[in-house]
Amino acid sequence: MKPYSRITGTGSYLPPRRVTNAELATELAGRGVETSDTWIVERTGIRARHFAAPEVTSSDLALHACRHALEAAGRTPQEIDLIIVATSTPDMVFPSSACILQHKLGIAGCAAFDLQAVCTGFVYAITVADAMIRSGTATRALVVGAEVFSRILDFSDRSTCVLFGDGAGAVVLEASDTPGILASDLHADGSQVGILCVPGTVSGGKVLGDPFLKMDGQAVFKLAVGVLESAARTTLAKAGRTEADIDWLIPHQANIRIMQGTAKRLKLPMHKLVVTVDQHGNTSAASVPLALDAAVRGGQIRKGDTLMLEGVGGGFTWGAVLLDL
Ligand code: UT7
Repeated sequence: MKPYSRITGTGSYLPPRRVTNAELATELAGRGVETSDTWIVERTGIRARHFAAPEVTSSDLALHACRHALEAAGRTPQEIDLIIVATSTPDMVFPSSACILQHKLGIAGCAAFDLQAVCTGFVYAITVADAMIRSGTATRALVVGAEVFSRILDFSDRSTCVLFGDGAGAVVLEASDTPGILASDLHADGSQVGILCVPGTVSGGKVLGDPFLKMDGQAVFKLAVGVLESAARTTLAKAGRTEADIDWLIPHQANIRIMQGTAKRLKLPMHKLVVTVDQHGNTSAASVPLALDAAVRGGQIRKGDTLMLEGVGGGFTWGAVLLDL
């Protein structure tokens, strides 16, 4: 049994329909909702997001991302023995999008399940996959973040509908003789359920409660910067490393001000911050693996670099993972 796990390939996928702030503002104006490119850019850093076509599901987006990750790792679907999909917008109530994805990949038999930790989902999922690999339960995992958040947006609520987008990111995580995942730190505080949630549910053949995303943006903002700093520091301490060892910070891509604030608190120069929120918006569980893949394929991140991945979001949940690529 190999003592560590390591990322051997990354992949991502964005649905083709790209909607700029100006396009969204025009669309919303038609519904009597007022917003502007200037407001969105100044408050969030977002310039565009991608929206999936109505018939496209999270597992469809995940399939493309996984194919790219498998190709990068030089692996076939048949070599995978664990699939974890982090998502808050699954294809169905059940079974899991991971099971649906497994079938779309043309394989059967391996363990497959969804993980629900909203925007911290990928950080949770990679931590779980690492633990399963190190315990010998799995040897080669697909760890995925996939979302169609456009389905749960209330397009009459300008304080939330301009923030989110759709997409998927994936990594192949394999058993390894050398360390890849170095340490992680996961948290949740259920007393804060109400600050970011979709309160509705399916019951008795109907949707009970509100099926749209609700957020107290300022409450989330205030909590986010503090917990992202503490999770990063705890993770570094667990790994016996310091801020100086971080080559790239890849935080959840929700708001450029939160991301820059976190980098500043960790005394990291801004050029070490991976930013895709401008082009993707907030893709929840997909945001970190999307940003990771974009930076790998863009030639910024190279093999051997030390990365700090961070998530924060509904639950309230937060966490960090430090790894050597
Ligand atoms: O993925 C989970 C993590 N989520 C987050 O990290 C989100 C964290 N929160 C945020 O990013 C920010 O709180 C927001 C971007 C959501 C909001 O920014 P803010 O600076 O906190 O703005 P605000 O909510 O205080 O609103 C300021 C003003 C309000 O108008 P008044 O009351 O000052 O007249 C809002 O009505 O901006 C108005 N506003 C808008 N104006 C134009 C809110 N949304 C919009 C909009 N366009 N889309």
